[in-house]
Amino acid sequence: MNWSVSTYDSAFGYVSAHGAPLIDLLDPQPGEKIIDLGCGTGALTVEIAERGAEVLGIDGAPEMVAQASALNPGLSFTIGDAHDFTTSEPFDAVASNAALHWMTRDPDAVIAHVHAALRPGGRFVGELGGAGNCAELIAAMQTAWRVFGLGEPELPWYFPTPAEYAARLEDGGFTIRLLEHADRPSRMTECPDGAADWVRLYAPSTLADVPPDMVEPLLARVNELAAPALRRESGWVADYVRLRFAAVRKPDGSTTLP
Ligand SMILES: C[S@@+](CC[C@H](N)C(=O)[O-])C[C@H]1O[C@@H](n2cnc3c(N)ncnc32)[C@H](O)[C@@H]1O
Repeated sequence: MNWSVSTYDSAFGYVSAHGAPLIDLLDPQPGEKIIDLGCGTGALTVEIAERGAEVLGIDGAPEMVAQASALNPGLSFTIGDAHDFTTSEPFDAVASNAALHWMTRDPDAVIAHVHAALRPGGRFVGELGGAGNCAELIAAMQTAWRVFGLGEPELPWYFPTPAEYAARLEDGGFTIRLLEHADRPSRMTECPDGAADWVRLYAPSTLADVPPDMVEPLLARVNELAAPALRRESGWVADYVRLRFAAVRKPDGSTTLP
């Protein structure tokens, strides 16, 4: 499935729907107050600030906020869980890159808190893993775990379908302006040992209950299983699938026409 609403809307300026980087989809304006939710070390936060907006990076991990603050001393960062953060003033936009799929406890609560942080008409713009994200990597993990007689690995992500996330946004008081669900195969430059490194880096929690002497043979099997789909002559490629959206907080008291 791959669909989008490319209708021009002033809330999103001139940006064409397809392929624009998230920052262009957000289209920050000088003086706007914007939150970067799940900001990590602040890569997107910096880009937003460079467009002249007043930006606050929020992240649940204290070490991420410490690193973001150290790297970007002029910007504001704070520790907060996206499921229950509050703000003392309304914001013009909330942006989020590669973070919403880690917020698994209650996606509706995240959307509700974003809604509460925005002024009516405020924008919520994000990119996250969508349904089918890393399907080959995950299948290789599941098979390897089974082969080694282990229970199903408990995966730490939420990869919604476009229909599911659209329903959550609409039920949460947003009007969707754009929603794209697209394959984005990506070179795994950060994972020289391929799928095994990917598990070590992005899913270490799944290894917590694996007997220590089983970890390496298990990950070697993950590599064997994933290699036919994901290893190229030039290196490993992750089978990423991304969901990108731009939504607007509905005006207060708005009702749906019959
Ligand atoms: C893959 S990083 C993305 C960082 C950054 N947005 C970027 O594009 O580089 C995901 C971030 O989401 C944060 N995160 C995960 N769950 C969170 C939560 N419930 N509340 C706030 N931040 C969370 C993590 O701490 C991590 O920094």
